[in-house]
Amino acid sequence: MLELSRRVAGASESQTLAIAARAKSMKQAGIDVISLSTGEPDFPTPQCAKQAAIDALNENFTHYTESNGIPELRRAVAEKFRNENGIVTADESTVLISCGAKHSIMNILGAMCNPGDEVIIPAPYWVSYPAMVALTGATPVIVPATPEHRFLMQPAALAAALTPRTKCVILNSPSNPTGMMYSESELRALAAVLEQHDCYVISDEIYEKIHYGVVPHFSIGSIRDIADRVITVNGCSKAYAMTGWRIGFANAPKNVFAQAAKIQSQDTSNPTSIAQRAALAALRFAADDVEAMRRVFARRREMVCELVGAIGGIRILQPDGAFYIWMDVRDVLGGTVPDSATLCSKLLEEHHLALVPGEAFGASGYLRASFAAAESDITYGMARLAACIASL
Ligand SMILES: Cc1ncc(COP(=O)(O)O)c(C=O)c1O
Repeated sequence: MLELSRRVAGASESQTLAIAARAKSMKQAGIDVISLSTGEPDFPTPQCAKQAAIDALNENFTHYTESNGIPELRRAVAEKFRNENGIVTADESTVLISCGAKHSIMNILGAMCNPGDEVIIPAPYWVSYPAMVALTGATPVIVPATPEHRFLMQPAALAAALTPRTKCVILNSPSNPTGMMYSESELRALAAVLEQHDCYVISDEIYEKIHYGVVPHFSIGSIRDIADRVITVNGCSKAYAMTGWRIGFANAPKNVFAQAAKIQSQDTSNPTSIAQRAALAALRFAADDVEAMRRVFARRREMVCELVGAIGGIRILQPDGAFYIWMDVRDVLGGTVPDSATLCSKLLEEHHLALVPGEAFGASGYLRASFAAAESDITYGMARLAACIASL
């Protein structure tokens, strides 16, 4: 047989999607599975966005658009980055609208990486970063962060990981999977290290709007001394419950933008026309919807922390943002359940609860549960988790 791409063969598939698929097939077989494995808001898309898409259809706004995104949306995103995030250089000419933040990050990595380059990824990390880096031919360099440091990369660890081959560092705040957020002073401390080293920073801020007031959101792209090397990524999926619409965006330095835009023009042409109109309406008019969803997430966060806190043997930190609870289960592992991946299979197959094992995020000994789910699912789900832990 002819050999297929080695780069693709070397990248992993998304484990979170695989677990969600297994849970779905069990449900289809009639098993009462509770899934707290997926990462999407369980709310409808705000009405203003839906209406804008309907209007776009009725106006026959159904053809190719500018490959980088429609100018009104690029302008609105640049304005958002300037006004809400302090990224003073953000401009519609350097904003790229893509098919989801995932696509934005892939295009940006594709624009900057060569084989042999290194990309620093703090762990626990979002499942897709290492695979995306591997797909470009570059090498992911994983920097583990510990619970003692709230799973945030420390400046000394960053300094130790930087080499002449480092092309980029990926930061994610609020974090998927841990829910932790970097404070302004923590980001300034990382920026001070990065100032001494010529590399890019991708700051993935997709959960920006979902936080609980503990740590104010801060964008590293607003720090002047490194701003010209920071790519800020955000999108509509999480803030506006628009995962299916596939709209993400990034502001990048001119040279990176130009290369990323070239990739997008050749492999995608443009994000869907009607979804872009919907995104524009969401950015303009959905602030109240965002706040309403945030309040519900805040209530569920209290609930899930209380329920997990009552299960002996599991340690947690209250999440600062996003909608995940990151559970340290190292104390309950051993014997026939030596690691979190085995615990996760047991939970799914015997207790019909779908969670994601820490292994998917580069940190064995942990489980991630999403609280973007109905309160009854959270309550019964945590009862199943408690039963499983008690049986160990
Ligand atoms: C940290 C992080 N970045 C990016 C994304 C991708 O978002 P999008 O749906 O916009 O591609 C996700 C989705 O789960 C995520 O958790």
